[in-house]
Amino acid sequence: MRDALPAPRLHLLVCANRREASSPLGNGCGERGDAVYDELKRGVAARAAFASIWVTKTHCLGVCPKTGATVAIYPTGRVLTDVDVADAETLLPLLPS
Ligand code: FES
Repeated sequence: MRDALPAPRLHLLVCANRREASSPLGNGCGERGDAVYDELKRGVAARAAFASIWVTKTHCLGVCPKTGATVAIYPTGRVLTDVDVADAETLLPLLPS
């Protein structure tokens, strides 16, 4: 194993998990997560920051909000829930120094 370098300065993990409608945990972030992911990718492209900001779509991150999606942020380790498309611009400037 070896490190893949350079590592990103900011890595956003966006849940787009889908569940059966009958699940007691709800439908999952699903389409809401897809929309947040697409908006974050659009913001990264606008900044030409592909190497320094990674955006990755994931399965369940364990929070399962009723609205919006869950986003985990590294290297800070923050986990945000109820994230919607309008929040994307506020997440991208959070570049660690
Ligand atoms: S389904 Fe998105 S955090 Fe669980």
